[in-house]
Parts: sequence; structure tokens; C-alpha cells
Amino acid sequence: MKRILLFVLTLFCMEVHMELNAQTHTGTQKILIAYFSWGGNTRGIARQIQQKTGADLFEIELVRPYSTNYNTCLDEALRDQRANARPALKAHVTNMAQYDTILLGYPNWWASIPAPIASFLEEYDLSGKIIIPFCSHGGGRFGQSLTAIAKLEPRAKIGDALSVHYSGGNSLANDITAWLRKNGITER
Ligand SMILES: Cc1cc2nc3c(=O)[nH]c(=O)nc-3n(C[C@H](O)[C@H](O)[C@H](O)COP(=O)(O)O)c2cc1C
Repeated sequence: MKRILLFVLTLFCMEVHMELNAQTHTGTQKILIAYFSWGGNTRGIARQIQQKTGADLFEIELVRPYSTNYNTCLDEALRDQRANARPALKAHVTNMAQYDTILLGYPNWWASIPAPIASFLEEYDLSGKIIIPFCSHGGGRFGQSLTAIAKLEPRAKIGDALSVHYSGGNSLANDITAWLRKNGITER
């Protein structure tokens, strides 16, 4: 009888310990907002998220940027997608190891992630980290982008993603708040 009681007590203590660990982790998680933006919509969303969370902000930029002409950019983006290109990135995250969670922002390009996002995901090993995508789009919402991210980072956990129509409407601030809450991220 004593042994059974001891066993149950041990199980209970393990449960409490695990619970406490989970809470501590959520409370102290270190977050990076990394985003690529061509026209500025995703940048605007990323900045709002930064203001609400106080997280570190990193812009994914190319050594050779896409054309500023919309139609040329459409062609270049399609060319890169078809070629599975990994265009060279201008800057790099120092000490990625310190982050538990990456809020990853990008525009929907040809129903998937822009090639610079693929370059970014291939550059870092995000195994065991949580990637929470936010995607600006012109009507196609996420397209195939969430699948593409999961394929490139199979050992990361993908959080609850946010899709925003262009730069977002009047509800953007509330949408971001609800999205952060859903993912267990507290505003500062
Ligand atoms: C090259 C390119 C491809 C696009 N492809 C899509 C698409 O497949 N589906 C969609 O809904 N919107 C598409 N869009 C629209 C963008 O997702 C939308 O304008 C977004 O708000 C742009 O974000 P940004 O200003 O941060 O670059 C595309 C835009 C560009 C420039």
C-alpha cells in the first residue's frame, strides 16, 4: 500500500514539475520577428507586432533585390519559384540559438512563400523551435506557403498562422492581439 502511495505521489510531483516548466518557458520565451516585404505591407504588419511584443525585429533582404516594377517583379518571382532558387541574403541573424519562437512574415507570392523565405529557412536549423507564420496576401490567403515552410523546417513546430489581406483593415491591431493570444504570446 505504502509503495502504491509513493508511486502516485511521485507521478503527481512529476506532473507538477512538468507543468511549472511549461509555464516558465512560455513566460520567458525569446521571440524573433523575421520578415520579407517587397511593397511594405508585411513590413507594416511586422512593425505593429514588434510594438505589441517588444520582440527583436529582423528584415530579410536580398543582396540583389527584386525589381521595383510590379510586372517585372512578378516575372522574377515566378522565375525563382520555378527554379527553386535560393537568392543570397544581405544580412544574417546573429545567435539564432537564443530564440525559441520565430514570427515569420512574408507576402503570398504565386500562392507560396517568396524565394528569400526559402533562403532564410535553409540558412538556419530551426529544429525544436516554434515558427509562427504571418502572411500578407491579395486574396489567396496562405496558398501553399504553410506546407512549404513545414517542408523546409520539418523539425520545427508550426504555430497558429495569421493571414492579412494586403496591409490589413481597421481590425489589424485586434487581429494581431487575438493571434498572439492564441499562440500564448503575451503583449508587453
Ligand atoms: C510577385 C508577386 C506575386 C504575388 N502572388 C500572389 C498570389 O499568388 N496570391 C495572392 O493572394 N497575392 C499575391 N500577390 C499580392 C501580395 O501577396 C500582396 O500584395 C501583399 O500584400 C504584398 O506584401 P508586401 O507589400 O509586404 O510585399 C503577389 C504579389 C507579388 C509582387
